[in-house]
This record gives sequence, C-alpha cells and structure tokens, in this order.
Amino acid sequence: MIEKSPNVVWHRATVSRKDREERNGHKALVLWFTGLSASGKSTLAHAVEDRLHKMGCHTFVLDGDNVRHGLCSDLGFSLEDREENLRRIGEVSKLMLETGVMVLTAFISPMRRDRERVRSLFPHGDFLEIYCDASIEVCESRDPKGLYKRARAGEIPDFTGISSPYEAPVNPELRCDTGNDSVDNNVDKVIGMLRQRGAIPA
Ligand code: ADX
Repeated sequence: MIEKSPNVVWHRATVSRKDREERNGHKALVLWFTGLSASGKSTLAHAVEDRLHKMGCHTFVLDGDNVRHGLCSDLGFSLEDREENLRRIGEVSKLMLETGVMVLTAFISPMRRDRERVRSLFPHGDFLEIYCDASIEVCESRDPKGLYKRARAGEIPDFTGISSPYEAPVNPELRCDTGNDSVDNNVDKVIGMLRQRGAIPA
C-alpha cells in the first residue's frame, strides 16, 4: 500500500453524518456478512436490504462478486489480495457511512485479522458482524456456480474451505444459521437486532 502524502488535510463536511441520519430517520451502520462461498451471504444481505428499503431506510449492498468486476478487478484470491480487497471495501464502507446509509457487505472475508482491521475503522457499534453459518458440506452441495466442483478437481487454487482457510467469527454480533433456517427467518433476526440496538425505529 502506498502511504498518503503528508500534505493532505481532512476537509470537514458542512452537512454532517448526524444531519443525514436525522433526515433519514435511522442510523448509518455497516452490516458485515461473512461466511463461506454459497453460505447465503448475498441472498441474506439482499433480502435484509429489501425489507429495510420497504421500511423506508436508505441502504446499499456491496457484493464480493460485483466489486471484483471493478474496484477490485486487479486482485486475486491469495491471502494478501483478499486482505487488500477487504481493506478497500472497509474504506468504501466508511465513506458510505458518512452519507447516512446502511451499508450491507457480502464478502467471504475469511481471516479474523482482516475483519478486525475493518472493524477498527469504525466507532464502537457501527460495525456489526453477521456470521452466515453454513457447513462446507452444505455449501458444496449447493455449489450454484460449480466452483466447489472445479476447486475439488484442482482447477481453482486457494479456494476457501478447500485449499484456503476460513476462520469463523468468535464473537459476532449475530449468527445466522444459513444452512438450515429460512431466509425469512434470518431476515427477522437481523431486523430484530437492529431494532434492539435502536438503529431503526421499534
Ligand atoms: S474475499 O475472500 O476476498 O472476501 P470475495 O467475497 O471478494 O472473497 O469473493 C468471493 C467470490 O469469488 C466467491 O463467492 C466465488 O464466487 C468467487 N471465487 C473465485 N475464486 C475463488 C477462490 N479461490 N476462493 C473463494 N472464492 C472464489
């Protein structure tokens, strides 16, 4: 990573994040969905977004597969590249938080250290880690893109859960059983947590 120039100074916005949150009627925060490929991160993130949107909340989903088409198209799947991928997403999420939106991210984000580094960018309570817990067996049986099959055949190196590690969260704000529970049930859990935290009206 290139160090920032010492000659750049932070410019404080006239319209603050708090002003935007007040207008929106909800808190800005990051919902960070983590889990194996095909564990249901994107499905759950989009379903939560749909529910929040219908409630009048301002939201946006950052999705691993999409971000890797543009902002992170120069990165692969070595642990170093994943670290840089998540560093960029963390910084994008931080900028987006200032716009007053709820940011929902769906990245495997396999390493605890990388997730903790992103968490450290935010004030306490603004970053909520949601573990999409589905076993490797379940994910592999779903295999929507045929990637597990190809990884088993040795055609995809560094594949998470097969030839690259996934470190499950130790103390996430929420754990969703995306292997067994319905999407609707898990959406209810996420919305319940947001209500309980006062992020959205009760
Ligand atoms: S992360 O590890 O850096 O967080 P990210 O969520 O952006 O990963 O991308 C994961 C997606 O890339 C997977 O859902 C899958 O579709 C695709 N993919 C391609 N190669 C790999 C690989 N080696 N390991 C995991 N996912 C891969």
